[in-house]
Amino acid sequence: MTALSVSTSSAASLRADALVVGVAKGPKGIVLAPGAEAVNEAFEGKLAEVLGTLGATGAEGETVKVASPAGLKAALVLAVGLGEAAEGGYEPEALRRAAGVAARALAGAKKAALALPAESAEEVEAVALGGLLGSYAFGTYKGNGNGKEPVGELVVLTVRKGSKDAKAAVERATAIGEEMNRARDLVNTAPNDLTPKSFAAIAQAAGKEHGLKVEVLDEKALTKGGFGGLLGVGNGSTNPPRLVKVAYTHPKAKASLAFVGKGITYDSGGISLKPAGHNETMKCDMAGAAAVFAAVVAAKRLGLTVNVTAWLALAENMPSGSATRPGDVLRMYGGKTVEVLNTDAEGRLVLADAIVKAGEDNPDVIIDVATLTGAMVLALGTRTFGVMANSDELRENLHALAGEVGEQSWPMPLPADLKKGMTDSTIADLANMGERMGGGLVAGLFLQEFVAEGIDWAHLDIAGPAFHESAPFGYTPKGGTASAVRTLVRFAEQTAANGKA
Ligand code: BES
Ligand code: MN
Ligand code: ZN
Repeated sequence: MTALSVSTSSAASLRADALVVGVAKGPKGIVLAPGAEAVNEAFEGKLAEVLGTLGATGAEGETVKVASPAGLKAALVLAVGLGEAAEGGYEPEALRRAAGVAARALAGAKKAALALPAESAEEVEAVALGGLLGSYAFGTYKGNGNGKEPVGELVVLTVRKGSKDAKAAVERATAIGEEMNRARDLVNTAPNDLTPKSFAAIAQAAGKEHGLKVEVLDEKALTKGGFGGLLGVGNGSTNPPRLVKVAYTHPKAKASLAFVGKGITYDSGGISLKPAGHNETMKCDMAGAAAVFAAVVAAKRLGLTVNVTAWLALAENMPSGSATRPGDVLRMYGGKTVEVLNTDAEGRLVLADAIVKAGEDNPDVIIDVATLTGAMVLALGTRTFGVMANSDELRENLHALAGEVGEQSWPMPLPADLKKGMTDSTIADLANMGERMGGGLVAGLFLQEFVAEGIDWAHLDIAGPAFHESAPFGYTPKGGTASAVRTLVRFAEQTAANGKA
């Protein structure tokens, strides 16, 4: 993993393979971003001119490499585009993206220094987090030589005097970035290797490492407890389901949060089998569980004054002679019955059990995170998650917090009229499908039925942004993205700071 550090050394004197500077689109051509001053001096004030001659425009995502002149200890200068020049300072997201692009472009290098705008602690954190996320590569299955190693070490250069809060900013970025990269690893791991059982074992090991309490309910315990949703979905697979509870408690906490994640380690659709073309990426269907897991570990590493419990609802959705059939009725944890009309609407079944269980602890807020519906991808595209809630305030708050940390989201309604098809089941309390139109909202309405009275609840449908299929951009690689982790961590931080949710 890439090592992150911060330094107040001058860019000129730092020993590294490469120095990264920012360039932007000014009103009269390209301009250098703050942080590039010492490098520009080594170029006798002509760095922008040289870069322009080499084709740099300052566009977001662009990289231009130039050999260093005498006077710089690093052999190479990499200029990364920041987009439009910002007089009053660059947005943290622009810095995260630029640092991410640079880190990816420098794969194979041993050490690089980031001479990007980094005066405030917020800027230092953005550069550090973008760099750590952009250096991510999933190498588990690649033979040696089949891909460059991520950049070994990233040094964030800052002009900030009294580097104590700069150091703290880099530590925060390290905790959040490393846990996001852990979530990405989990999502990218092949589904023959990541099963409910192996995911639970990983959670147990990480819990031990970080001092978190982890409890695992295996298929026996789930049967005894009457977790009909998890068992019904897991029935078709030779890999039985698990419900994992990961608890972080702070002695001075004044509020408790429950994060519930959909953890379908593979979604074939079950008996309502998905057609070819819809199966290939369905290892990503546990991205919600990976996100809530990463968030609780990050909360612990940051020492937040709040209690956070992550619930991982783990099952594999497969067709077989023992699989749940369309037409079966499941008795969910807590006693509600559900007629399964489509076994591909499995996420809501495992989440329902976990939401009821999470509610028993009486948390102040429950937030579930799930790659729940294709309908949400149709509605919002592949980079934006939907936010639904039983409280307008919570929904708006989560949408705003997501924006602050650089995650695209959009508030979605839960219109009661869309419940009709679901509550029409002639033989059970609910059906797991209803109106076809507004399928993402119907799924949210189904989940709402399992939230205990008096508990604020939100649902993040991350089906679009959880798994990135096209070319990498900014700090987002191909594959798992760790969508929603930063929003959850930010919410936990806000709760800790306010002493209430
Ligand atoms: N895991 C899928 C949703 C999904 C789709 C995630 C695309 C990521 C990318 C979910 O279990 C599913 O199959 N949903 C169905 C529900 C339908 C049968 C009511 C869907 O969206 O088609
Ligand atoms: Mn499905
Ligand atoms: Zn699914």
